Amino acid sequence: MTALKFMLCVGSVMLAGAAAWAQDSAAISSETADLIARGQYVATASDCTACHTSNPSEPYAGNHVITSPVGDIVATNITPSKTAGIGNYTEAQFSDAVRHGIRADGARLYPAMPYTAFAKITDADMKALYAYFMNDVKPVDTPSKKTQLPFPFNIRASMIGWNLLFADADTYQTDTSKSDQWNRGAYLVQGPAHCSTCHTPRGVMMQEKSGDYLGGAQVGPWYAPNITSDPQSGIGSWSKDEIVSYLGTGRAEGKAQAGGSMAEAVEHSFSHLQKSDLEAIATYLANVPAKSGPSRFDQGSATNLTTEFCGIDGAPSGLAVGAQIYSANCATCHGINGQGTKDQYYPSLYHNSATSGPSASNFIATVLNGIDRKTPQGHVFMPPFGTQDNAFNALSDSEIAQLANYVSSSFGDGGFEVSSDEVVQIRAGGPSSNLLSQVRIAMVIGLVIALIIIAIIWVVYRARRQRSS
Ligand code: HEC
Ligand code: HEC
Ligand code: HEC
Repeated sequence: MTALKFMLCVGSVMLAGAAAWAQDSAAISSETADLIARGQYVATASDCTACHTSNPSEPYAGNHVITSPVGDIVATNITPSKTAGIGNYTEAQFSDAVRHGIRADGARLYPAMPYTAFAKITDADMKALYAYFMNDVKPVDTPSKKTQLPFPFNIRASMIGWNLLFADADTYQTDTSKSDQWNRGAYLVQGPAHCSTCHTPRGVMMQEKSGDYLGGAQVGPWYAPNITSDPQSGIGSWSKDEIVSYLGTGRAEGKAQAGGSMAEAVEHSFSHLQKSDLEAIATYLANVPAKSGPSRFDQGSATNLTTEFCGIDGAPSGLAVGAQIYSANCATCHGINGQGTKDQYYPSLYHNSATSGPSASNFIATVLNGIDRKTPQGHVFMPPFGTQDNAFNALSDSEIAQLANYVSSSFGDGGFEVSSDEVVQIRAGGPSSNLLSQVRIAMVIGLVIALIIIAIIWVVYRARRQRSS
């Protein structure tokens, strides 16, 4: 009897133990699940997929090529594959790569990987990001292509000097004089969402010019406009709701639509953020020091200049050609007066940042590439006119230039005057920087100066020896 009691007792203790253990492991795994979910959210806010995915069925497997002024840089495979990806990275190595641009083998990454912004990511978010990549991303065992930049940029160690000059290694520091919402917005904008990597102009060494923070910059064929709080040249006149709507859906009615790399950022990243985070971003942006410049909104009005050009004798020229191209190709959707449709699914071309100065890039790039943006709110599509492979006309460089000048002067603010050469340049991927030649010239000048110094030292040394002998 006592033996039975003893066994029952032991059994129940074991059962209780097992139950407690099960509960414990359930607690741990739900904790891990929370961590992974948080990491996935950080990855979305950081848009890691924008650069590290080239084939949508193999997320993060790399091979996406980023064209930089000094050559093509390939974003690598960051799936947890032990042979081709980052499966052997420890958490500390992962953090060094993402926040400081140091690969596990010690080599420096090029700042095409936005570690200068990711340096702001907090330790807690970094831990979550690591848990997500190691546990929830499917390993892909195909290595990505290698980056081969021309001399001197193939020397990765040169980035150590660049980092010393331009990278700030601190994580985000809360500004206690500001609200929690402001701090959340500042954290997202400066850190994970890396808005400044596109919207801040760069200096001669490709560093972001901190004095022109979010002041507008060329990103390949597109122009990421001034988004400081300036009411004329920035977005200071936008309501918070308009900013939230733009980031969440890619459009702010009567103001702007997102094409190009911004459309991608909206599609993959911002449209999946919580509304409270988009509101936090809007709160912070309202406070970013204003950078003045030409006015970009509320310009133009509904006009119809085509009638002026009807009945002209002979072949039309100048704006008349633009008017013809417009009515043949664009008016079906954007309206003959440029007013768009009532619901603004097809937006008006007046009161539109793409048809105001100073840069014509977004107008030209939109006509060449069209718009193709999917968000939870639906699919937005404008056909590209730069290629022949659709039912719409392909427009030539000079046709696009004349169209741009017609649209700018009739619906826009007349803020740009486009030549065929500018269209050729945007078609080829945007104005190229002459960084490579600058650095090479700098190296030659450096070498010449070094040779002169050596020569002077040698002359002085010989003179002294001659005197002493
Ligand atoms: C704007 C493009 C871009 C974004 C966004 C981006 N990366 Fe990268 N990343 C790159 C490029 C390009 C490289 C390769 C750079 C090089 O070879 O020097 C790279 C390299 C890396 C590496 C080094 C891997 C190795 O061993 O080669 C890691 C790790 C990494 N990225 C993780 C991330 C994570 C995590 C995110 C999101 C938080 C992210 N990246 C977002 C462009 C990007
Ligand atoms: C990968 C580059 C890139 C990143 C990252 C990026 N943007 Fe943009 N953004 C652009 C481009 C390009 C445009 C112009 C799009 C167009 O007109 O079709 C733009 C347009 C905008 C506009 C509309 C401005 C106007 O006047 O038309 C706003 C607002 C904006 N971005 C805010 C942000 C914020 C906030 C972030 C970070 C949370 C951000 N962007 C991150 C490239 C980027
Ligand atoms: C089949 C319908 C359609 C045609 C034809 C069309 N568009 Fe569009 N257009 C759109 C849609 C849809 C958008 C994007 C609306 C959005 O993003 O919410 C757009 C956006 C634009 C924008 C704003 C882009 C930005 O990034 O800010 C411009 C400028 C523009 N179109 C000019 C033109 C011109 C010029 C033509 C003629 C060559 C043209 N469109 C022909 C449907 C069309």
